[in-house]
Amino acid sequence: MFRSNVRAKFFVFGCLKKATITLFSYVLLFLYACNTDSNNLSQTTINFNPTFEDIAPIIYKNCTPCHRAGESGPIEFMTYDDVKKNVNKIKFVTQSGYMPPWPADDSYTHFIGERKLSKEELQLIKVWAENGAPKGDESKIPSPPVFYAGSFLGKPDTVIKFKNPVPIKGNGADHFYVIKLPMELIKDTFVRYFEFVPNHRKLAHHINGHLISYDPGKKKDIQTGLTHSLDQFKDYKVLYSQMNILNDDGSFPVLTPNTVYYLPGYTPPVYPQGIGGYKTNKTSAILLKNIHYGPSNQDVLDSSFINVFYGPKPKRPIFETQLGTFGISKIEPELILQPNKIQTFHTQATLNGDISLLSVNPHMHLLGKSFWAFAVQQNGDTIPLIKINKWDFRWQYYYTYEHPIIIKAGTVIHAYGTFDNTDKNPFNPNHPPKVVTQGEGVRSMQTTEEMFQFIFSYLAYQTGDEKMDLSKSKDN
Ligand code: HEC
Repeated sequence: MFRSNVRAKFFVFGCLKKATITLFSYVLLFLYACNTDSNNLSQTTINFNPTFEDIAPIIYKNCTPCHRAGESGPIEFMTYDDVKKNVNKIKFVTQSGYMPPWPADDSYTHFIGERKLSKEELQLIKVWAENGAPKGDESKIPSPPVFYAGSFLGKPDTVIKFKNPVPIKGNGADHFYVIKLPMELIKDTFVRYFEFVPNHRKLAHHINGHLISYDPGKKKDIQTGLTHSLDQFKDYKVLYSQMNILNDDGSFPVLTPNTVYYLPGYTPPVYPQGIGGYKTNKTSAILLKNIHYGPSNQDVLDSSFINVFYGPKPKRPIFETQLGTFGISKIEPELILQPNKIQTFHTQATLNGDISLLSVNPHMHLLGKSFWAFAVQQNGDTIPLIKINKWDFRWQYYYTYEHPIIIKAGTVIHAYGTFDNTDKNPFNPNHPPKVVTQGEGVRSMQTTEEMFQFIFSYLAYQTGDEKMDLSKSKDN
């Protein structure tokens, strides 16, 4: 198995100062199934006849970011005609809670970019649909939102492209690739963000990329070697040699995991200037490991790219820690999912420094059922972190708080994950269900094996962090 050093990734957990992390892949499979939970609408009444003037703002805010040209949603909602044409579908998916996808329980904690329809909004859509979707006064309909082209964050300092386009076969199957994007910069620098921009948004299902930064003199030529390979989940050591990723002396270069990330509807968390960023040496590469393309009916070539935004040397480094699988804390009991059982697992870790928590990312695979994380302070008070009542493998966001959550040393962070390994779980890949474990090493990342992880990003606490407004950091 392959291991690489990760600098400055864990620091407040006494048990691990300089950690090693396995180079792994999140293998995600996105399946279609409807959420049949019904929302409680009984108390809400609408005593007027809504027209598109009332509906457009709801759609434009909650749906259009994904349902527009080039985005992941299969239909576009830019105009009245688009919406009217699909009104019955829209009514169905909103009333059933299937759209907009937002798995986190908004009665537990709130996050930036939360997409949840209120009871009033749901009722407005229902009444409007049942009244035949009247347009109303055209002059009062708000204009559709204007979206960025090619970047969510503005004009990048540089763009790194796929060296060779990646072929996606139109055979209706999922494709998993490992891709190397060599980067040769003018000088060693700091990068504030790497923004992945998929070429085929409807096919790009999940991307998790790592930064490889070569120490001076360690790598003469990063341009040669395979630029991409189908991920066979076999021996990555062989693949990395073929991709010419290793240092010239055969050792593994410094790797910073999870620097590039993408999911349907995902926008990168943007923190205030000076917070976070990555030391990126002149000779570097992004290793997309792995990238999951959904099924396509026709052969296409993918030429996605990564926008690179430089920044100052970070004043405040962001740390990332993971509990559970491959993390710093043990899962109890051991993650062995018995067939035909629903089981709950727990993992916990104690902080030994004060932190300002920025974002959280719960992670499980297809057998996940629910997820819950909270912190218990030394005085017994509980700090809610995130609750997902109905786990959905397709929507795995990095959830960012509006203000950092301050958590003091001595606090215990707890995560509970419930897994459903019965036939009733529509995502269960095994019929009949069989024993599922974390597998072994790299191979355990396959979707059909399980993971239970709670990943979170934070700063070392400084006075005033509680007032920091993370929702306003886009342009500063
Ligand atoms: C985060 C991105 C995202 C947001 C936000 C979103 N959708 Fe979707 N939507 C998708 C994706 C991706 C699919 C296709 C995959 C699937 O069905 O799971 C989809 C599927 C649908 C479908 C089924 C289309 C079909 O013909 O199969 C409808 C209808 C729909 N969305 C309506 C909405 C409405 C209405 C909203 C807002 C209230 C919304 N969506 C918000 C991404 C999104």
